Amino acid sequence: MIRSRILSAGGYLPADVVSNDELARRYGLDTSDAWIRERSGIGQRHLAAPGETSSAMGTAAARQAMERAGVAAGEIDAVIVATATPDSSFPATAVRIQASLGITRGFAFDVLAACTGFVYALSVADSMIRGGSARCALVIGTETYSRILDWTDRGSCVLFGDGAGAVVLRAEEGEARGGAAQRGILSTHLHADGRHADILHVEGGPGSTGGTGLLRMAGREVFKHAVTKLAAVVDEALAANGLGREDISWLVPHQANIRIIDAMGKKLGLPPERVVVTVDRHANTSAASIPLAMAEAVAAGKFKPGDLVLLEAIGGGLTWGSALARW
Ligand code: COA
Repeated sequence: MIRSRILSAGGYLPADVVSNDELARRYGLDTSDAWIRERSGIGQRHLAAPGETSSAMGTAAARQAMERAGVAAGEIDAVIVATATPDSSFPATAVRIQASLGITRGFAFDVLAACTGFVYALSVADSMIRGGSARCALVIGTETYSRILDWTDRGSCVLFGDGAGAVVLRAEEGEARGGAAQRGILSTHLHADGRHADILHVEGGPGSTGGTGLLRMAGREVFKHAVTKLAAVVDEALAANGLGREDISWLVPHQANIRIIDAMGKKLGLPPERVVVTVDRHANTSAASIPLAMAEAVAAGKFKPGDLVLLEAIGGGLTWGSALARW
């Protein structure tokens, strides 16, 4: 049986680090460091420089992931990019990254599932590897939300940041069919409910005849959905593999809000040091947040072979999902 193993992860953050106070000053926001920290756990975010694109950041993150994995461009036969902030409607940001990395074979495309984008892209890549369409895939989350934020809306603009993260997946032959002890992605679980599309969306876009092109969010509504849906999708992942919460080594949650992250850690009975947290320094980088957090964990030598790593995310759509992997 073929399994997709996560070989390594890499990340990239723009150089401009903006504290809460600096953000308030820069955009004339009626907010405070205390309010932002208390409600979200965010202390700062990185913002892309003028001209710095999702493809440029995604390329940098992918390069680091490939270096850490010891994988050369010639081995990659799939580039799957999760982004809600592509360089342009088409071509896909994935093909820009593919070209920048000097990859000339296989395929490349984008996946759009907002903050759940990385989990969706990972699931697609895993299915394609297990189905035999690819052997070695780059899965990238990269976002420049600073370009779609309404800098006059203090209820949303303080929560997001820019950045990119990437993982390298490779097909490996496993021993036992479906064995949960085997290294690699054990399962992924995707959900969407478009009835809630309007609580977190971008107003207008390239195919619309109106709209500002800016992010709109009903924060409290999103929060309520997040807590219940993430709890359910984590249970689903454990049940699908006959595992219990005590089996989890690491939780790598989507980094939107420390209160949601803490609630999930508590639900799983994990001590705080087993939950990878970057939201304090990165804010919400949407599809980039999980692979960026994985990249940090890899750099810190946290994941050991055999560790069970649980990923979960929710975002615009609504979309939500989880993935369970044996490192
Ligand atoms: N600074 C100061 N005050 C602010 C503010 C800011 N940046 N943003 C909003 N406020 C004010 C509101 O205007 C409101 O004032 P009012 O009561 O006078 O109307 C008050 O703070 C409370 O707002 P509310 O929206 O109820 O706060 P909250 O406790 O729900 O926290 C969020 C707001 C956005 C932090 C929270 O709802 C949240 O994290 N939601 C989930 C968002 C998320 O994760 N989105 C991404 C998912 S991928």
